[in-house]
Amino acid sequence: MRKPSGGRSDVAELQVPDDSELMPRPQVREDLDPSRAQPVIQLGDLAVSYSGKLAVEDVNLDFGYREITALIGPSGCGKSTVLRCLNRMNDLVLGAEVSGRVTYHGQDIYAPEVDVIELRRRVGMVFQKPNPFPKSIYDNIAFGPRVMGRKQDLDDTVEEALTKAALWDEVKSKLKQSAFALSGGQQQRLCIARAIAVQPEVILMDEPCSSLDPIATAKIEDLMQDLKREFSIVIVTHNMQQAARVSDRTAFFTATVRDDGQRVGELVEFDTTPRIFSNPKESRTEGYITGRFG
Ligand SMILES: Nc1ncnc2c1ncn2[C@@H]1O[C@H](COP(=O)(O)OP(=O)(O)OP(=O)(O)O)[C@@H](O)[C@H]1O
Ligand SMILES: [Mg+2]
Repeated sequence: MRKPSGGRSDVAELQVPDDSELMPRPQVREDLDPSRAQPVIQLGDLAVSYSGKLAVEDVNLDFGYREITALIGPSGCGKSTVLRCLNRMNDLVLGAEVSGRVTYHGQDIYAPEVDVIELRRRVGMVFQKPNPFPKSIYDNIAFGPRVMGRKQDLDDTVEEALTKAALWDEVKSKLKQSAFALSGGQQQRLCIARAIAVQPEVILMDEPCSSLDPIATAKIEDLMQDLKREFSIVIVTHNMQQAARVSDRTAFFTATVRDDGQRVGELVEFDTTPRIFSNPKESRTEGYITGRFG
């Protein structure tokens, strides 16, 4: 078991190719096949425990470049735990231990030389509940670029990020107002814009619509389709229709109770979303998506 160290490594930056060198988007999107996925992040025998108690294990999964991957499954099966491993957010959870491999463009993100701050810039996160900073709309978006030392062209960066998050038209006349004055759905798009502003490659979303009404949810779902032209997205959702609507591939997790009474999460099936929802291989997947289990 390896204990995540957390914090900024002073050794070397995470070395990944420039955008121009990254793997191209799969050519035939209608015929997605897991064996042909162009992976951006890969999990190998991933296991996570909290204070010595195993939460999830044996996770082997590839996240496709510029695809949307949905993680579904009943409460407590380890979806958020797995998601947090993708940018080492579990480093911040006391007692969390991660073993196995998490690679980003083939590089072990848990290697000691990895700059965790840089990793989290490249692999950004949007949380369940919108969490704008107590600042103006403008300053929320400019925050990340400023931390990165950017002083010039901030106006352009803010406009671009808000435009990509489909929020610009709604807020362009009130950029100096508090972010808290926005509706919940607008706040969530603001948080997506804030994540985009530091030019990540991957965006992790943990139940991003669970606090939103159906109209705000539809806006975020539309937005995700636009965003995947530029970003790889991993979304945890309890909403099966949402997973079916937005994602290219779906991973179904569940938790089983061991002989010793311990409840441990596992990946049951990973496939293209149409196959998971129309023709799953595993009876447990079928039971869950048809509402008979979970
Ligand atoms: N910070 C933590 N400390 C201790 N145990 C935790 C912690 N976070 C999660 N766990 C445990 O790990 C297991 C997986 O939890 P996780 O939150 O990843 O599940 P989930 O699939 O995201 O559930 P939900 O759908 O309810 O959000 C659970 O047994 C949970 O109790
Ligand atoms: Mg969760």
